[in-house]
Amino acid sequence: MTDPKENIQENQPAKSYQCCGSKSEEQNTNLTKDEQLSETAIRKAVRDQYGAIASGTNSPTDEQLLEKTSCCGGKEDYTDYSNEELEQIPAGANLGLGSGNPIRLAEIQKGETIVDLGSGAGIDCFLAAQETGETGKVIGIDMTSQMIDKARINADREGYQNVEFRLGEIEHMPMADNSVDLIVSNCVINLSVDKSQVFKDAFRILKPGGRIVVSDIMLQYEFPEVIKQALADSPGCVSRAWVTDEYLGVIKAAGFEQVELLESQLITPQKKHTDEPSSGTRKRSIMISGKKLEVELSPEEDEQLQNTILKAHVRAYKPQV
Ligand SMILES: C[S@@+](CC[C@H](N)C(=O)[O-])C[C@H]1O[C@@H](n2cnc3c(N)ncnc32)[C@H](O)[C@@H]1O
Repeated sequence: MTDPKENIQENQPAKSYQCCGSKSEEQNTNLTKDEQLSETAIRKAVRDQYGAIASGTNSPTDEQLLEKTSCCGGKEDYTDYSNEELEQIPAGANLGLGSGNPIRLAEIQKGETIVDLGSGAGIDCFLAAQETGETGKVIGIDMTSQMIDKARINADREGYQNVEFRLGEIEHMPMADNSVDLIVSNCVINLSVDKSQVFKDAFRILKPGGRIVVSDIMLQYEFPEVIKQALADSPGCVSRAWVTDEYLGVIKAAGFEQVELLESQLITPQKKHTDEPSSGTRKRSIMISGKKLEVELSPEEDEQLQNTILKAHVRAYKPQV
């Protein structure tokens, strides 16, 4: 895990908008060439993964089906949307990729301009659109063109006039400064190679007094080293998650105030095997982030792991002045 302090800078100047383009690799000059390469590779892996999901070429793995797990954990944990909410949105907008329901906690007012970071097929944008109404506007941003295509088809089919989807990276959003009342995001920022930059750019586009309400995967404790290594190249939503204090720390460092963890819920990884080799370690076969890991853990690590992964909702405000 990157040390967030390395990336924290005082309120950075607003960045100019480059339509749909990625500027992050060239702008993150603190990184060595190798680190930039690996950031590029991770970003590509994330984009490929969600491109395949959007195009329907990436079905759940046999292991995921067997274990009934989604990318973040057990499907049975996911009761984030009510039937009424799901009935309101276009068919195909819910790909089951979220980690919560930021709209429920966002207290949307009529006429607000709302941005959804990593909008996928549009589920939260469509829900937000009902609440902000025809005097408001919702803009979904996603870096995966297949997701944007899917979301636009969903919007057009149902005739949404107040929802728009823009191709772009959430580290450098295709949005003007001080133009947004509310930012929401659902299980996306954990995937970013530069989380600190995401919150700096969120700060830039929010109006003074604007708020951000995020659902995301966080960690209560660092993963054991052996799990960190096993997940190092994985683009999954848990692999790149941060410990809660670090996550809240970069939000504060971006300039936000009243940074608050609104609610959180443990996700318990599915695990098998209770072999205890003579060394006293435990051999485990664990599903994390859709990946099956065969690892050997100490009893303490094994028990802590059950209390490590959280799905959490965070809210923060841009100061009025
Ligand atoms: C786990 S899915 C969540 C989708 C949606 N929020 C939902 O709840 O269904 C993550 C989405 O974020 C997008 N994404 C990931 N990293 C991104 C980045 N750095 N910039 C823009 N979009 C990104 C992916 O393309 C994908 O559509």
